[in-house]
Amino acid sequence: MKGLILSGGKGTRLYPLTFTSAKQLIPVANMPVLFRVIQTIRDAGIVDIGIVIGDTGAEIRNAVGDGSAWGVRITYIPQEAPLGLAHAVKISQPFLGDDKFVMFLGDNVIQGGIHALIRQFDGSRYNSQIVLTRVKEAQHYGVAVLRPDGSIERLVEKPKVPPSDLALVGIYMFDASVFKAVNAIQPSARGELEITDAIQWLVTAGYSVFPYIHKGWWVDTGKPIDMLEANSLVLDELTPAILGSIDAESTVDSRVTIGAGAQIINSVVRGPTIIGENTRIVNSYVGPFTSIHHDCVVENAEIERSIVLEHARIADVPARIQDSLIGRRATITRATSRPAAYKLTLGDYSAVGLV
Ligand code: G1P
Repeated sequence: MKGLILSGGKGTRLYPLTFTSAKQLIPVANMPVLFRVIQTIRDAGIVDIGIVIGDTGAEIRNAVGDGSAWGVRITYIPQEAPLGLAHAVKISQPFLGDDKFVMFLGDNVIQGGIHALIRQFDGSRYNSQIVLTRVKEAQHYGVAVLRPDGSIERLVEKPKVPPSDLALVGIYMFDASVFKAVNAIQPSARGELEITDAIQWLVTAGYSVFPYIHKGWWVDTGKPIDMLEANSLVLDELTPAILGSIDAESTVDSRVTIGAGAQIINSVVRGPTIIGENTRIVNSYVGPFTSIHHDCVVENAEIERSIVLEHARIADVPARIQDSLIGRRATITRATSRPAAYKLTLGDYSAVGLV
């Protein structure tokens, strides 16, 4: 089997972070979501992986390289515009050939890996198997209706009134019959070739399409709140390791990971939390569900349930920072000179919540 990761898109809901970075490269527990996806596919025994890239392609190539860091072979497949998931499949045919493959959206994080479902599909005679999970607000997703024999009867993309609570997770498995489908369908109202339409085409044409019901958690990291949610869930499962130093005045919980060269000085760190390499936490409180990336400084400050990207500096902040996403090299400090006013240098689309 081969793997196909979709890593295009503009990530508009994560502006301003995605002005300067691909959304798939925003870290969750200090590791880009895309790296987690590559690892998950690799752990399921797949070594040939295609990545469909768009406007942010150069940055993705730069971060992922040829895949040797994971022991996989990466092939990049440029998509000229975000014309839909089924369009991405269409342009990937030369890479995929006649092999069965798993398609994984590069901004999805799933609990427990995909080993079991890859094994099931590989050993089956299904033409397609799609991962579904039960959700509360199915109107935001593709939704499936099953037949009494458990196969897929029908799929609807983001229906106003969902016919079931079974949402399509961004993971799909196909054999080469999917190319007939992606070549037959027409663009949807939003101008994209929808993967749900391609799967529906397979169903209508009599191909066998079955679900795989995923029971653990799953997060589509489209918005800041989803990034924070994925961050909390991944941190909760992280095996802690202390590589940096903790001074005698500090208190650090058992579920805390501290990277090499990091220093915790006169501070309290409550887990689950991760502190990146060479980051300094000084006279501060770092609360649960926080990821602070490498080479940051947190001094005389309190922060929890947040994601802080590399080289950020947070110092002398009078109120606790929480539920926040702080970008690369951002600084949050207290002005010491008069007038006592907020002095802000914010990127376009920044959001600051003042009290
Ligand atoms: C896509 C699919 C949708 C699926 C979702 C999962 O939607 O079209 O069927 O439920 O991914 O993340 P999008 O996120 O592109 O709107």
